[in-house]
Formats: sequence, structure tokens, C-alpha cells
Amino acid sequence: MNSCTTKLNYVSEDGIRQLVDAFYAKVRIDPELAPIFERAIPGDWQPHLTKMYAFWSSVMLTTGRYKGNPVAKHLAIPGIQPHLFQRWLRLFNETCRELFDDPVSAEFRAKAERIAESLKLALFYRPDRPWPLQAE
Ligand code: HEM
Repeated sequence: MNSCTTKLNYVSEDGIRQLVDAFYAKVRIDPELAPIFERAIPGDWQPHLTKMYAFWSSVMLTTGRYKGNPVAKHLAIPGIQPHLFQRWLRLFNETCRELFDDPVSAEFRAKAERIAESLKLALFYRPDRPWPLQAE
């Protein structure tokens, strides 16, 4: 059977849960991302995962379920660096493609890339430096 036929062609709360669970399972074994997350979330991951279900539900289904301030949270994360966003996005896009068909994956990717760019600007942009940063 063609594996594409098993992919989801719509966004739902259930699909978002599967995506978030599968994505953070990859993050937690990624050599560069895992240490940062494990420092910030040393114990139970479920509250973070539940928050991320709400976040993606707000972004993709406009449910307004997420109430939070991602910029403030990310500003407080020790060790976060611009080049890690590429890695984060690569894992996220890979996971989207595993679960969703091409049009839906592309929708997730477009949103994630825009949010990543705005987080990077908030965290790393300085008026006296070129943008995008050279080292990325
Ligand atoms: C280098 C890339 C990234 C790293 C290392 C990172 C790391 C983290 C960590 C460690 C937390 C937990 C913070 C805590 O609970 O203290 C967090 C929360 C979060 N992240 Fe990221 N993140 C990255 C990129 C992104 C991107 C691209 C998005 C969105 C597309 C995103 C969305 C969020 C949201 C919504 C939260 C929850 C914030 C809250 O508590 O309300 N992150 N991130």
C-alpha cells in the first residue's frame, strides 16, 4: 500500500496531539536540542506537551486555547542560539511530513517558519548588526 494513503489530510486536535508527541520525542534525543529542553523541563513533560497542543490548536485551528508569551519564555532559556532554530524546524517539518499529507504539512511549515523568524528577531536582532545573522 502507498504510505501516503495513511497520512492525515486535515488538521484536528487529535492530529495535533500526535504531531506534538512525535516531535518532542525527537527533540528529546537530539544531541543539540535535548540538553536545552532537559534543563528547562527537568521533570514531567506532560504540562509542556499539553501547552503545545493548545498552542498549535490556536495557530492552526484558531481556537484561542493557548494563553502565553512565547517570547518571554524563550528569552529566559539558557543556551538558545540562532542556529538551533534551523534544527528545530528541520525536525518539526520532518515530523509533519510523516503524519500529514503535503498540503497540510506545508501549512504547518509556513506557520512554524514565520513564528521561528519572529522569535529569532525578538531574541537576537540588534540594530547595529546585519540581519540575517552571518553565523547561521
Ligand atoms: C531553537 C529553537 C527552540 C528551542 C531551543 C525552544 C525551547 C523551548 C523550551 C525549553 C521551552 C520550555 C520553556 C519552559 O517551560 O520553561 C519552550 C516552550 C515553548 N516553545 Fe520553544 N523552542 C524553540 C523554538 C520554538 C518555535 C520555533 C516555536 C513555535 C513555532 C516554539 C514554541 C514554543 C511555545 C509556544 C512554548 C510554550 C511557552 C509557554 O510556556 O507559554 N518554540 N521552547
